[in-house]
Amino acid sequence: MSSREQLEQYTGEVEAVIERYLPRKAGYQRTVLEAMNYSMKAGGKRLRPLFMREVYRLFAGGPEGGGEAAVEPFMAAIEMIHTFSLVHDDLPCMDNDTLRRGMDTTWVKYGYDMAVLAGDALAIYAFETAAKAFSVSDRPDLVGQCMGLLAEKSGISGMIGGQTADVELTGKEVSPEKLDFIYRLKTGALLEVSMMIGAILGGADREQVKAVEKMASCVGTAFQIQDDILDVVGDARVIGKPVLSDEKNEKTTYVTLYGMEAARKAVMELSKEAEEILESLPGDHEFLSCLIDILITRVK
Ligand code: IPE
Ligand code: IPE
Ligand code: MG
Ligand code: MG
Ligand code: MG
Repeated sequence: MSSREQLEQYTGEVEAVIERYLPRKAGYQRTVLEAMNYSMKAGGKRLRPLFMREVYRLFAGGPEGGGEAAVEPFMAAIEMIHTFSLVHDDLPCMDNDTLRRGMDTTWVKYGYDMAVLAGDALAIYAFETAAKAFSVSDRPDLVGQCMGLLAEKSGISGMIGGQTADVELTGKEVSPEKLDFIYRLKTGALLEVSMMIGAILGGADREQVKAVEKMASCVGTAFQIQDDILDVVGDARVIGKPVLSDEKNEKTTYVTLYGMEAARKAVMELSKEAEEILESLPGDHEFLSCLIDILITRVK
């Protein structure tokens, strides 16, 4: 099987896991549940849960390791947090975008009020979902550690912290250090925690979790730079979101700060750094290494 076929198969498996944890639609709060499921089911590459499961398998000795049931609630949870970040990122008060994952953004479809509530609800339902790991794991200590980390990397020290600096710096000059900070937090943090949770539940030691965090941070920054590149040269029908959103919002990005050529080079170099760290980790690296390669040249 080629690595792209394998990616397709794995994405389908991840999709099925996520589906099992979505809230059921009932009651007077039905609209918010519909809006949550609308944004969750709109598609997306499902990279964060995919990375989580693959890193888990590195340390647990492959899919037959036996403990994957505890990873699954976290796979759904991280996709909920990521989707919440997108629902809010698209709001009129943030990036003011109308297309996401090839569909109307949640605020266009359900209104500004419901989109705020759906984002809030996804963020909190993510933790309700992650807590389900307690009942299927024989290591409640590790589950608790992962929940704490998920909160840390999603909140003020992670994604929300990065989005804050991103929003505040709109239309202003940004130093290279601050831009790196924004990318590491707004995008890197969720990739870091995805892979760290996989590692922790898979039985990695402290040093190995640190290495995984660094590897994921490189992947995260490369991923955001490629996102900025696609905002300029991508095709809206392929990326499923508008192009030139950053220009519209007067964002400083890697592309505006360093130029297209240097941005492409940075994606390559950061991915290479990630692959070098991957080499030092145990287990079968083949798919993860291919996945990092695929991301370098991704068009969506
Ligand atoms: C988009 O993330 C937001 C960024 C952090 C750049 P993805 O490109 O992973 O979005 P989906 O999940 O595939 O829609
Ligand atoms: C946002 O970055 C990253 C998030 C934390 C949502 P962007 O604003 O560039 O993401 P897109 O391009 O809208 O997906
Ligand atoms: Mg944004
Ligand atoms: Mg945006
Ligand atoms: Mg973008």
